[in-house]
Amino acid sequence: MDVTADNLLKTGTLPKTGGAYQIIKLSADHLDAVTALHKAVHADLPDDKKSFLMSKDATTFQKHLDRGNVILGCVYEGRLIAQSLMTLPDAQHQSELLNDMIAPPRPENTAILGGMVVHPDYRGNGLQKIMLAARISLAHAIGRKDIVSSADIGNMASWQNLLRKGLEIDAIGARKDGTLRYIFYGKTEELLKEKHTHANEENTIALIECSRAAIGAQKRLLRKGYKGTGFDAGQETIKFSLKADPQALNLNSIRSPSLTV
Ligand SMILES: CC(C)(COP(=O)(O)OP(=O)(O)OC[C@H]1O[C@@H](n2cnc3c(N)ncnc32)[C@H](O)[C@@H]1OP(=O)(O)O)[C@@H](O)C(=O)NCCC(=O)NCCS
Repeated sequence: MDVTADNLLKTGTLPKTGGAYQIIKLSADHLDAVTALHKAVHADLPDDKKSFLMSKDATTFQKHLDRGNVILGCVYEGRLIAQSLMTLPDAQHQSELLNDMIAPPRPENTAILGGMVVHPDYRGNGLQKIMLAARISLAHAIGRKDIVSSADIGNMASWQNLLRKGLEIDAIGARKDGTLRYIFYGKTEELLKEKHTHANEENTIALIECSRAAIGAQKRLLRKGYKGTGFDAGQETIKFSLKADPQALNLNSIRSPSLTV
């Protein structure tokens, strides 16, 4: 895996091994490695967790790059150990967004983060958060002000990382196969702040903790304008905050009726 001055975005050390990694912008030259890593991670997921990650082939990744979208990779000891996608929609290319669930109201302003995979041998090194930060910085650099992402409601590792990074649960959407996903939203500028806090105290007028299993109650809170802003891993609860001046896109209200869950 070639790391060059042109594709290198960031370097660091893996907390578990102390070895150096590089975050790079991948190109069509890396498609074989990208496809192989995605396939390996998908195959490794048990059947009841396959919905965490859409299956993708080389053509999908090729199209993704052809449309001017981004794939970031994490290279360790010359091998690709993690990767993530960033889709940069425009008015013409909305239908394929975010698992066909929703189209953001301001596509040209939006960056959609998805396709995050870490090779099983390198999990627990915080790479998801590192690659979230790298994509948010990149989105900022190219003027995308809104960040949208999603995670299967059963994928705690993934949605906890999105919450930790400052994104908020804005809606619960359904894939065509019926599996549910938290839809996340964040403002690029806010997410880049060093000490970002969700529930900006003076701005929060109500805070409700909801069991992570109580999806019906969570949907009701989201419809009322609450945003998922944190979690308590011990209690298995998600914190929902009602803000005085919500900045979110409110994807609940724009989703087409057939997809409303
Ligand atoms: C979700 C995923 C990207 C997170 O990867 P990551 O960067 O290694 O995540 P983190 O380092 O923050 O670890 C997250 C959690 O994974 C768990 N974890 C840690 N080491 C692990 C290991 N060796 N194997 C499996 N899980 C491990 C821990 O519970 C950790 O939680 P903690 O931070 O509270 O300790 C990764 O698990 C993955 O690739 N999963 C399969 C594909 C997927 O679900 N993608 C997300 C699509 S939205």
